[in-house]
Amino acid sequence: MAGRRSLIVVSNRGPVTFDRGPDGERIVRRGGGGLVTALRGLLDHHDVTWIAAATTDEDRIAAAEKSSDAALVAPDPDAYHGYYNVVANPMLWFIQHGLWGRGLRPDLGEAFHAAWRDYETVNRLFAKRVVVELDNKPEAAVLFQDYHLYLAPGYVRAARPDAKLAHFVHIPWPVDWTILPAAMRRAVHEGLLANDVVAFHTARWARNFELSCDEIVGGRNGARITHHAISIDTAEFDELAQSAGVLAEERALEASRPEKLVLRVDRTDPSKNVVRGLDAFGVLLDTRPEWRGRTRMLALLDPSRQSIPEYVEYVAAIERATEEINGRHRGAIDLQVADNFQRSVAAYKQFDVLLVNAVYDGMNLVAKEAPLVNTRDGVLVLSENAGAHEELGEWAVTVNPFDVWGQAQALHEALSMDPAERQRRREGICAQVRTHDVHAWVAGLLADLDSV
Ligand code: F6P
Repeated sequence: MAGRRSLIVVSNRGPVTFDRGPDGERIVRRGGGGLVTALRGLLDHHDVTWIAAATTDEDRIAAAEKSSDAALVAPDPDAYHGYYNVVANPMLWFIQHGLWGRGLRPDLGEAFHAAWRDYETVNRLFAKRVVVELDNKPEAAVLFQDYHLYLAPGYVRAARPDAKLAHFVHIPWPVDWTILPAAMRRAVHEGLLANDVVAFHTARWARNFELSCDEIVGGRNGARITHHAISIDTAEFDELAQSAGVLAEERALEASRPEKLVLRVDRTDPSKNVVRGLDAFGVLLDTRPEWRGRTRMLALLDPSRQSIPEYVEYVAAIERATEEINGRHRGAIDLQVADNFQRSVAAYKQFDVLLVNAVYDGMNLVAKEAPLVNTRDGVLVLSENAGAHEELGEWAVTVNPFDVWGQAQALHEALSMDPAERQRRREGICAQVRTHDVHAWVAGLLADLDSV
């Protein structure tokens, strides 16, 4: 791998976020999400300026301080609301994860059009900051991240035609963009194609992007379209699995666990397909009495995006489904809606079956993290629409995310699998993840930049 580089990373969430403690002191917390975790690895090896949005009051104060290391942009809170809570989520997220029902929703009224202007405004603000940083270090390559920032590359390109720009899209790319009005879907594609490189996690999402570019803007503007599968820091996970906090959680789980543990760990996001997964577990118990009383589903769900109505409704739907199934099969589902990462890692070590049945998912890192530290040769049941399926499908039990009956059969197959086969599959996943870790992902990304 080549030496130290000058990079400007641009993402909505930054590597850290600031808050105030009880005594008024500044508290620094790690930014959440797979994207931030994966990109953090760049910080030690390269000269990185990371531009992100101020998301807390303390972030906004830090953004105003000239001395602060953080390159934070501080959009007006109303504009940020339209950009994040209306356009990026749910509109773009739902389009890209195939979540709109279409019959009644979405309905794009005046408020949506105003929010689109907010999306433009916040993207312009990010672009302006990129140009300032490029003036400080003109040799730097700019790495835009994700769906919050589709327009920013176009604005930067107009101001600095020779800049080296790449964009990594961490979520699925659909062929069909017809929900978004023509001028907006053109703007999304033109913005992305202002980059030298546009990258995705899988060949499937990259191929879809090529198709939608041909359809919507009649070409690819010379951009290089590539794919590199994001992954995890395996050494960090090995260490985490043995940490005191995780071991304490594991002891508590071991003391209360059933004979067979079916696990899911997700954000409370409709793309994760929690409700159909619960229903499938209910069908398993309805139709296969041999698993009743011996098997429990543990659903560890991290509350997500709760200022967006669709996400609030989704948590309610999860709670209703759980109640209904537990009414038929007492104590069958243990639903925990909380942010408890140590408990999640403890459960990764203890599962017999891991259910990852996403409607669509750019990658899904739980499918890589959990088998790596599992101690029981647990079986991965994996959606064919998760990006991780391109890499791990041959060692998983594959499911169609809409087929609840099929998922119940898959759970039965995974629970009944003989020990040698379970071991063969888990070892296959571990070998793949260890040889294709997050460092390989970063190296692939940087090699793309070299090719520009
Ligand atoms: O790429 C998707 C992503 O941005 C991930 O980084 C993360 O898993 C999630 O979405 C975080 O979402 P939010 O920043 O809205 O909490």
